Amino acid sequence: MKNNWDSDNYTDKFQFVYKYGEELIDFITVEKGSFVVDLGCGTGAVTEKLSEKGFEALGIDTSETMLEKAKKLYPKLNFRLDDACSFKLDKKADAVFSNAVFHWIDNHNKLIKNISENLKAGGEFVFEFGGKGNGEIVHNALKEAFETHNLKYVNCFNFRSIGEFAPLLEKYGFRIEYASIFDRPTEQMGENGLANWINMFVNSAFDGLDFETKENIIAQAVEICRPKLYVNGKWYVDYVRIRMKAVKI
Ligand code: BEZ
Repeated sequence: MKNNWDSDNYTDKFQFVYKYGEELIDFITVEKGSFVVDLGCGTGAVTEKLSEKGFEALGIDTSETMLEKAKKLYPKLNFRLDDACSFKLDKKADAVFSNAVFHWIDNHNKLIKNISENLKAGGEFVFEFGGKGNGEIVHNALKEAFETHNLKYVNCFNFRSIGEFAPLLEKYGFRIEYASIFDRPTEQMGENGLANWINMFVNSAFDGLDFETKENIIAQAVEICRPKLYVNGKWYVDYVRIRMKAVKI
């Protein structure tokens, strides 16, 4: 799936993405100095945390604009423009880390195969992404709003359950050490928090629509969500996370 994100907007308004990523780093237990890949590093905030923890960190992302910003923010770190499903490392990694990325990837089979091929035996694979049912209230509201314009909403995210994802890990030589799926209602900043979230992240569904139709649909979806997702003056998105740690056998 292609996403054309505004890297400044991402860094300013959507800091929760990498704040939660920092929490996930503690699942990595390889020793200091180990080579750790931050897959889908965006603007590099978590790559920087990995480096601060004493790892040799490499950030990989498919977005040129995100990486440009990452290189400006953290000029001493290593970043590489590459695809999660096809990158090839010169030396195998001791750990691969990824936060909030895999739901953007269509082919999870290819993804896990490639990660496995780039990890050492005994290497750790720690990740979190959108679990089954992630953002369901928002996606259902968008579907309803699209339908009032006689349009079809396509939710193209690849959210997964543990039962769907675990067999892929085992197929490509991983032993699963930890798996969890949980709700994480995630606050969005400001009165336009939900509209901003839709504008930032759900862009391909609006391809080919004019500005006014898009704005109408978003406004309508926001009102459909309001009774459930606007709580005590704050907007939340009904995130569900799948979090796993696996070790390459
Ligand atoms: C997520 O991190 O779960 C997510 C972000 C943007 C769009 C869809 C899901």
